[in-house]
Amino acid sequence: MSFDLVLFGGTGDLAWRKLMPALFQAFRHGSLPQDGRIVGVARDDLSDDQYRELIQSRFSAVEGAKRPSPEEFKKFASMLHYLRMDLSKPADYASLAELLKQRDAKTVVMYVATAPALFTQVVEQIAAAGLNGPRTRVVLEKPLGHDLASNRAINSAVGKVLEERQIFRIDHYLGKPSVQNLFAMRFGNALFEPIWRREHIANIQITMAEDLGVEKRGAFYDQTGALRDMVQNHALQLLCAVAMEPPINAHADAIRDEKLKVLRALKPWTPETLGLHAVRGQYTAGTAYGERVPGYRDEPGVPPESRTETFVALRTEIANWRWAGVPFYIRTGKRLASRDARIEVNFRPTPHAIYRAPAGNVNKLVINLQPKDGLELHMLAQAQDNRQRGGNGHASAAQLAPVQLDLDFDKRFGAERVGAYERLLLDVIDGRLNLFVRSDEQEEAWRWVEPLIDSWESDGGPRPYAAGTWGPSASSAMIARDGFAWGEEQ
Ligand code: BG6
Repeated sequence: MSFDLVLFGGTGDLAWRKLMPALFQAFRHGSLPQDGRIVGVARDDLSDDQYRELIQSRFSAVEGAKRPSPEEFKKFASMLHYLRMDLSKPADYASLAELLKQRDAKTVVMYVATAPALFTQVVEQIAAAGLNGPRTRVVLEKPLGHDLASNRAINSAVGKVLEERQIFRIDHYLGKPSVQNLFAMRFGNALFEPIWRREHIANIQITMAEDLGVEKRGAFYDQTGALRDMVQNHALQLLCAVAMEPPINAHADAIRDEKLKVLRALKPWTPETLGLHAVRGQYTAGTAYGERVPGYRDEPGVPPESRTETFVALRTEIANWRWAGVPFYIRTGKRLASRDARIEVNFRPTPHAIYRAPAGNVNKLVINLQPKDGLELHMLAQAQDNRQRGGNGHASAAQLAPVQLDLDFDKRFGAERVGAYERLLLDVIDGRLNLFVRSDEQEEAWRWVEPLIDSWESDGGPRPYAAGTWGPSASSAMIARDGFAWGEEQ
């Protein structure tokens, strides 16, 4: 199937860090249709060959087997082209139209990986140049807006010139293999669904911890913060995936309808819960990878008096029959103790104890997103033969020990699995919207986080935490008030 993929922001950070490696992997796996062209667009004055060289030089930062050999890159590079554009100039879109007309590909994907402030302008200009025909699909990167009003403004401007089925709002967490496995586990098996509810589940924890700081993105990050960068999108999408009702089929709208219901059922914030159930933090100097690292305010591009949060911990509930009263905890941050993303489903304890067993919730299902991609089922097992210990053989004397069933998807299905961006780019080319976010979902998520944004504007500022730790102690205190603790902090 022939396609043209136009990459606005073709020399930008996302293009070379995520998109080009993902396209190359798809090419290597043989899943990228060969009759395709990838057109990088940026302001720099480059020829096709210079663009290819630039991309190749950036691939040298790719580690191990993922780095292409020169022969492989040469084959891949024949798909790469470059067009210099000033995104504010209509004439430049006319040149793009000209370039696209040469091939008349079956599908034209416009990937808008520019600064968010340009999204609306680019989409309007695409339409003005007549490039919004039925074969066109537009991919919009996050963040789509910085609050509900700006998100609505973008969605409404884009909605005027494109149909919803042409708009692919990307959230790369939905492309992670473990998230698709969460859907498969929940809706492809009968085992868990009957117990996937308030009667059996004590709490659910979503952790997305990064050990990296803000790297070179200080100036951008300072305008964004962890709530807008990770919670409004990735964390709430994970929460939807774990809490949604089974969809009536696997079509995009059936899935998105169910996610939307979860977002609508999130308990609205009140002055009381804003104080008790929301913690934000900012890292100070500390240790990462065994070395001293600077605090957030000393990162390049960050103002020394910045009040931007690099850590958020929240507690919420979903007001519906399945989940009423079950706490959902979300925690994310930069410069935490390790890179670790997982969802923990903690089941209720046994109603009556006949064993000597460790206290607390022992049954939990962990969906590991990274660094490992897999599932763990934690339970208790008989640790030793109690007769040898001089016991009377009665069950009440037995000693139970925690054990876990561990499913490592990389080992099971091979490490060369399809990565998040690779999966999502192929889905756009194929026109599959299942793993993309609809405008109403996105607006609902903004509506829910907005009271936090407002209340943080005038509070005492984020709480400090040392780089290399698990965030401010108020985060553990928040969950401890419910009688729980965050899962393993290793
Ligand atoms: C991005 C955020 O959406 O997700 C980054 O903008 C963050 O700040 C990244 O580092 C995390 O993605 P992953 O896949 O590395 O967990």
